[in-house]
Amino acid sequence: MELCAQGVSYSYPDGTRAIDGISLCVSSGEVSCLLGPNGSGKSTLLLLLSGLIRPESGSITLDGVDIGKLEYRRTCGILFQNPLDQLIAPTVEEDVSLGPRQLRLSPEEVEARVRSSLARLGLLGLEGRSPFRLSGGEASKVALAGLIALDPEVYLLDEPSSSLDLKGIEVLKELLRELKGRGKIVVIATQDSDFAYEVADRIYILSGGRIIAEGSSEVLSEVELEGIGIRAPAALRIYRRLSPPLIEPPKNIESLIDALRKLLPSS
Ligand SMILES: Nc1ncnc2c1ncn2[C@@H]1O[C@H](COP(=O)(O)OP(=O)(O)OP(=O)(O)O)[C@@H](O)[C@H]1O
Ligand SMILES: [Mg+2]
Repeated sequence: MELCAQGVSYSYPDGTRAIDGISLCVSSGEVSCLLGPNGSGKSTLLLLLSGLIRPESGSITLDGVDIGKLEYRRTCGILFQNPLDQLIAPTVEEDVSLGPRQLRLSPEEVEARVRSSLARLGLLGLEGRSPFRLSGGEASKVALAGLIALDPEVYLLDEPSSSLDLKGIEVLKELLRELKGRGKIVVIATQDSDFAYEVADRIYILSGGRIIAEGSSEVLSEVELEGIGIRAPAALRIYRRLSPPLIEPPKNIESLIDALRKLLPSS
């Protein structure tokens, strides 16, 4: 599968031009990250890719067919930047069951999906709680559990890591590996360059509603990120300052430490 935006522009009703002529194609089995500062258009682009808003010009297609012509609601799931925008049921359990119920699965299958999604995110015990009486991180996890329970072909995740703790981030990274393996399309909006650098197969750098650079994670070494208000990944910043000629640019601090240890004389 291939989800493509071709020459897409979008302005909000008050005239703010949020997306200005963007083209991109994301493929099955790949994690793509939209990386950019506040107001660069990441959330708007995800909303466009979800079909919840329509481009004022250009097109969005899945395998060449305009998403407006598809049963796209079942194919595509979105995690909103603010989880409370999507938690609508009176209890956590009912909320997570909305997706599988929409798929008209049997009650047993719905129950199984709800339980496994809640368990995966460490939410067992919160089933009967109102989504409005959760911590910020818990609310994010419930919204993510709802998406996993729906299990669409296209996952659009808006800042999925921003309020998660260490365990939550590990679960998210493991989920991304699994989704890749199962051939899903995954698009993540984030301003966390460390996260993008580690998980993305392809990165699109946004500024002012445009894509200013794109490529594999190596693109982060090539663009002056601070100039657009994004901090470069910590491992890359340290690597650049040390400029050690003997090691590859590391993916995270742990691999940087491992690589540097190998260079040090053993004591
Ligand atoms: N409902 C709205 N009405 C008018 N303008 C909006 C609306 N929502 C967003 N914008 C504007 O559209 C532009 C892009 O916003 P968007 O939310 O897509 O940015 P973002 O990259 O997701 O930022 P953030 O990192 O803060 O989440 C900004 O200039 C923003 O002020
Ligand atoms: Mg946003």
